[in-house]
Amino acid sequence: SRWFSRKELLAGKRVLVTAGGTMERLDPVRYLTNDSSGKMGFAIAEAARMMGAEVTVIKGRTSVAAPAGVRVIQVESAEQMLEQATALYSNCDIVVKAAAVADYRPVVVADQKIKKKGDRLLLELERTTDILETLGERKEHQFLIGFAAETDQVERYAMDKLRRKNCDWIVANDVSAEGAGFDGDTNILSVYGPDGLIEALPLMSKRSAAARLMELAAVASRGGEP
Ligand code: CTP
Ligand code: CA
Repeated sequence: SRWFSRKELLAGKRVLVTAGGTMERLDPVRYLTNDSSGKMGFAIAEAARMMGAEVTVIKGRTSVAAPAGVRVIQVESAEQMLEQATALYSNCDIVVKAAAVADYRPVVVADQKIKKKGDRLLLELERTTDILETLGERKEHQFLIGFAAETDQVERYAMDKLRRKNCDWIVANDVSAEGAGFDGDTNILSVYGPDGLIEALPLMSKRSAAARLMELAAVASRGGEP
């Protein structure tokens, strides 16, 4: 065995990160989206780049700019994110699905702006494809890391998602905790593997959490102990 400096931990590795929230169109001027800022995904992309990886980010709607030195692919909907992610998948070593993907989208996308009519409007929504689950089904050599945003029973739901989506790891984000969640600059993450908790990170900046996560992932994806 040998020591790797941080700068070369991911040298020669291709890392794919999804970041931000998807936008599900309702009509030409309206869509459904969520509060994701993209900060966590971008921090992960930046950490991976600093460790020497070749990084691609598939981004939805974000409220901050993407880091320099990474390839950025802009998408809108969950369907578009799925398409780009599956196209790049076979060429990746590590995939981190930090995006907040819509679970439902409007059944009908109107060609024209929807006019108001009556006191109530009922929107019919249908399920989107689960991108992470699709990647899990097609997993070959990739080290696949999913996220889980939870408000309660964090470990149970995280482990459920890990198994259901055939991930190597699930990074749980307790979004009910103070200092964690979508728009802030800090987070509280717990990393779960097939045998349970790998590491619980205390409250820290998204940048530091991303650096620690990618350091662990670099070692684990080489087959080493974290
Ligand atoms: N995810 C995805 N495609 C979807 C929905 C979710 O790839 N259509 C991914 C997210 O990017 C994340 C992981 O699945 O990496 C978990 O997302 P989360 O919303 O926590 O879990 P869900 O499986 O959607 O379950 P629920 O929202 O009901 O808790
Ligand atoms: Ca969801």
